[in-house]
Amino acid sequence: MLLKDKVALITGAGSGIGRASAIRFAEEGAKVMVADVRTESAANTAAEIGQAGGTAKSIAVDVRVGAEVQRMVEETVKLFGRLDVLFNNAGVYVPKNVVDTTEEEWDWVVDVCLKGVFFGCKYAIPHMVKQGGGVIINTASGAGIEGVPNLGAYQAAKGGVVIMSKGIALDFARHKIRCNTICPGVIETPIAENCNNIPAGASAQIWARSGVMHPLGRNGKPEEVAALATFLASDQAAFITGVAMPIDGGFNAGAFIPPELLRGR
Ligand SMILES: NC(=O)c1ccc[n+]([C@@H]2O[C@H](COP(=O)([O-])OP(=O)(O)OC[C@H]3O[C@@H](n4cnc5c(N)ncnc54)[C@H](O)[C@@H]3O)[C@@H](O)[C@H]2O)c1
Repeated sequence: MLLKDKVALITGAGSGIGRASAIRFAEEGAKVMVADVRTESAANTAAEIGQAGGTAKSIAVDVRVGAEVQRMVEETVKLFGRLDVLFNNAGVYVPKNVVDTTEEEWDWVVDVCLKGVFFGCKYAIPHMVKQGGGVIINTASGAGIEGVPNLGAYQAAKGGVVIMSKGIALDFARHKIRCNTICPGVIETPIAENCNNIPAGASAQIWARSGVMHPLGRNGKPEEVAALATFLASDQAAFITGVAMPIDGGFNAGAFIPPELLRGR
């Protein structure tokens, strides 16, 4: 087991990547605090882990609110005695360029995706320093390391997460705290339905179009991102800190031209 007896706290764990990671972390022996603004979803993930024989508890948190994030961290330490892994994963997006983005939309996206990560690190790191080390994983995006159309606020937030995480890696390396970022391509989760009032089940239409953007010719699965998070959380990654790791079917390798368009050149 890669995470035996480690204590992990995952935000946005009621759905998608966070949910898959909570389940995988628990399978690998971690005790997991499942945090989400949607209380029922978080409780469902924790219950599923419990039914499978793992250890998990859920907690409601709005990562935009510092006092709530502080309470989430403190409850985790109180319940499980320590905090080995913080996975700042909660995120939202608005599919608009900067001209069309309203101030409210900007604040929502940047506060969840960037300020939420800041708060998580701010309140977890002192515990990790005190206990002699820890691991932070932050979910950014391929859109945090490459230009992507129509994601004005999201790009700003995710780019901020990437570079802030590198700074955190430097600031706390001598306290044996590792901090890395995950940068997924399109992953088949309900994020569009959760953020943009797209009807349940309609994501399949988006995925049908987005698969071909990735050189490997398909979108990713939440379980594939969970596998990367598990590795980064584990001692197998003990010499890895300060990286922004793409998991995107080759999207970051360069400008991809689908082979169909290259034929006849
Ligand atoms: N799905 C993708 O294609 C993709 C690609 C790149 C990056 N990401 C990133 O991966 C992360 C997880 O996304 P996902 O695809 O699993 O989406 P998702 O919608 O399935 O899960 C995100 C979770 O975050 C929670 N959340 C939203 N606002 C919150 C808040 N204020 N406080 C606490 N929790 C909150 C939601 O309730 C939801 O359960 C996000 O940071 C997202 O930006 C996703």
